Amino acid sequence: MKYRTLGNTDLQLSAITYGAFAIGGTMWGGNEKKDSIEAIHASIEHGVTSLDTAPFYGFGLSEELIAEALKGKDRTKVQILTKFGLVWDGSNNGKGAHFFDIQDNGRNLSVYKYSSKANIIKEVEESLKRLNTDYIDLLQQHWPDITTPIDETMEAMEALIQQGKIRAAGVSNHDLELLKEASKTFVPASNQVAYSMLNRAIETDLVPYTVENNIGIIAYSPMERGLLSGKYFRNDTLKSDDHRNGYFGQFDLDKVKTLLDKLAPIAAEKNVTLAQLVLRWTTLQKGITVVLAGARNAGQAISNAEAINVSLSADELQVITNLLVDFRK
Ligand SMILES: NC(=O)c1ccc[n+]([C@@H]2O[C@H](COP(=O)([O-])OP(=O)(O)OC[C@H]3O[C@@H](n4cnc5c(N)ncnc54)[C@H](OP(=O)(O)O)[C@@H]3O)[C@@H](O)[C@H]2O)c1
Repeated sequence: MKYRTLGNTDLQLSAITYGAFAIGGTMWGGNEKKDSIEAIHASIEHGVTSLDTAPFYGFGLSEELIAEALKGKDRTKVQILTKFGLVWDGSNNGKGAHFFDIQDNGRNLSVYKYSSKANIIKEVEESLKRLNTDYIDLLQQHWPDITTPIDETMEAMEALIQQGKIRAAGVSNHDLELLKEASKTFVPASNQVAYSMLNRAIETDLVPYTVENNIGIIAYSPMERGLLSGKYFRNDTLKSDDHRNGYFGQFDLDKVKTLLDKLAPIAAEKNVTLAQLVLRWTTLQKGITVVLAGARNAGQAISNAEAINVSLSADELQVITNLLVDFRK
């Protein structure tokens, strides 16, 4: 594994960081607890030291699974990245910005983006309890909340650093304008944003700014939630309550298939999978500090961790990037 320093902090994160969204089950058609724990263990055994989760993932379940998987392990050898700012339990009393409604185990839930100081403090206490730890390595605002001034949110995170509850503070899903605004109060360690071979929008304005200002980029959904593994073009099917039934529809799937057909011989020549080639390309892009790779089971987790060992020369990287012209947003 390779390890990288996050922004202006002393946090060393694994370049491939484990993404714990799918193991929360909600929106992903569920997941087996045993598989989830094994995925986390396998990641750690293969050099992944950093785990990214959120209260929203499985409405607390993802954080609880991480706590269970880390039982008996040296806490100082892993970095826990979690978030705040998506509220589903009604505790916001209608405050914040309505995001979407969702059904979970027969419950109808309304999810709000809400990043007030009081809510952040409350959420952090809940996360610490679920994670069974007394500090969070990186706390991130999950989604911007237009109803709370960004300086209130950033001040609250800065205070949590001073109290020792979190080691570093980051944001997620910030566009350039909001990131600049947030930085006036407190320069975040990182911005966690969508980035993949099919979605390179951040290269235009966000990356030049973060590189110049030493803010880390944590890239999420690098495999486009599994699409770039190629398996859905073969025989994999999705459960009816898997959000990807809709999510994949945003892409021109014929073009994606054509791209994967061109990448397949490159992967075969290196004796790696498409998913591994895709992940390695992503880790090598300018300004990308950490790539979050979701995995439901040990097999996927090992494959993803090992992706860091795929060797790609500058020429090979360029050949791959040249294949992506159709996808630049
Ligand atoms: N900040 C945000 O708003 C935000 C949003 C999205 C994600 N994230 C973070 O980013 C992480 C990663 O993104 P993601 O989970 O959305 O998507 P992803 O990492 O692009 O894809 C994960 C999915 O890809 C498939 N997969 C994983 N490893 C594989 C392998 N080795 N071979 C074949 N298929 C493989 C699995 O699909 P199957 O489930 O079909 O097996 C898995 O669920 C999340 O877990 C979360 O931590 C953050």
